[in-house]
Amino acid sequence: MDLFEYQARDMFEAYGVPVLAGIVADSPAEVHAAAENLGGTVVVKAQVKIGGRGKAGGAKVAHNAADAEEVSKAIFGLDIKGHVVKRVMVAAGAKIAQEFYFSVLLDRANRSFLSLASFEGGVEIEILAVERPEALARIEVNPAEGVDLAKATEIAMAASFPAELIEKIAPVIVKLYSVFTGEDATLVEVNPLVLTEDGEIVALDGKVTLDENAGFRHPEHEALVDTDAEDPLEAKAKKANLNYVKLDGEVGIIGNGAGLVMSTLDVVSYAGERHGGVRPANFLDIGGGASAEVMAAGLDVILGDPQVKSVFVNVFGGITACDAVANGIVGALAVLGDAATKPLVVRLDGNNVVEGRQILKDAAHPLVTVVDTMDEAADKAAEFANA
Ligand SMILES: Nc1ncnc2c1ncn2[C@@H]1O[C@H](COP(=O)(O)OP(=O)(O)OP(=O)(O)O)[C@@H](O)[C@H]1O
Ligand SMILES: [Mg+2]
Repeated sequence: MDLFEYQARDMFEAYGVPVLAGIVADSPAEVHAAAENLGGTVVVKAQVKIGGRGKAGGAKVAHNAADAEEVSKAIFGLDIKGHVVKRVMVAAGAKIAQEFYFSVLLDRANRSFLSLASFEGGVEIEILAVERPEALARIEVNPAEGVDLAKATEIAMAASFPAELIEKIAPVIVKLYSVFTGEDATLVEVNPLVLTEDGEIVALDGKVTLDENAGFRHPEHEALVDTDAEDPLEAKAKKANLNYVKLDGEVGIIGNGAGLVMSTLDVVSYAGERHGGVRPANFLDIGGGASAEVMAAGLDVILGDPQVKSVFVNVFGGITACDAVANGIVGALAVLGDAATKPLVVRLDGNNVVEGRQILKDAAHPLVTVVDTMDEAADKAAEFANA
């Protein structure tokens, strides 16, 4: 999950990274109040999860509250590469002497952490990396050792910071690294990290990406989710503790086990080629215990997707045997009642498959078609979706 700049700023502050005062505002009137509160020169900055805001007109300097309110009117509603500005941060204005770049990130390819630093900030780092790669230091960080003052000094030296600046910047790098590990981030980036005319180091812009797999260690991260931007079906699934990812096709998919669900997506995609190009509508892994409640919650999410035309329930009975799953399906359809409106193709195999199929046969639900093999079931579901 990417954070907004203001969220990154707050996080930095909590870890003692030097930042400037910043107040979020959702309307020009709030901008006025925030600017008055901060006093002096401020920068009104669009809060969107995309880089290059400055260039797109999403960051403007204002010298008083009235001025700030006025410039904010051009920022609210601005479309920055598809991200429409709904919120801004009014930040205290810095007197910048020099701009630098620093980031630390998860380096998946090398199974390690990587720190990037440059004495030349204020430019787009992607461009610097291509045009003058020698100006961007890349220092591997051993996750087991982390970044202490000595390592931070090594990073700053590699980025050709002069000695007097290394002394100032190294402790800030140590703190930024503590944000990275303390919050289980996969990216902490500061662009620009600046030296002010008063000789202070300040993080003027922050990008933080949190590792959602570590979310269980950070219940407080829940509050950082941008509910506005969240897919409503994914939000509903999350509430029900389901492993759901929305895709853009027409065949709803439910399976048990991530591997089975992924191969189900494949067979449905192939089958779809014979049936008007229909595609999987989602990934949904209901895991081991396919109880009626879990099945009902899963079906409820999938049937709530207006794009879904048919549903493929693909279950391999293991620890939870097929008869329990079949009872789950029958129970789920009873729970959903009239809310269940789309054809369901069910393929059961594995433990107690005979009993499971019998249960579905006895229930004789008008929406349910039982098909024995995965390929045939995918074909049937695709056919229904294309009807
Ligand atoms: N609080 C501030 N005071 C003074 N100048 C600022 C302030 N914040 C930003 N700036 C200036 O505006 C420039 C762009 O700001 P910032 O990096 O926050 O936005 P950006 O253009 O979106 O960058 P990115 O592409 O990295 O997201 C900075 O390089 C800096 O020169
Ligand atoms: Mg920036």
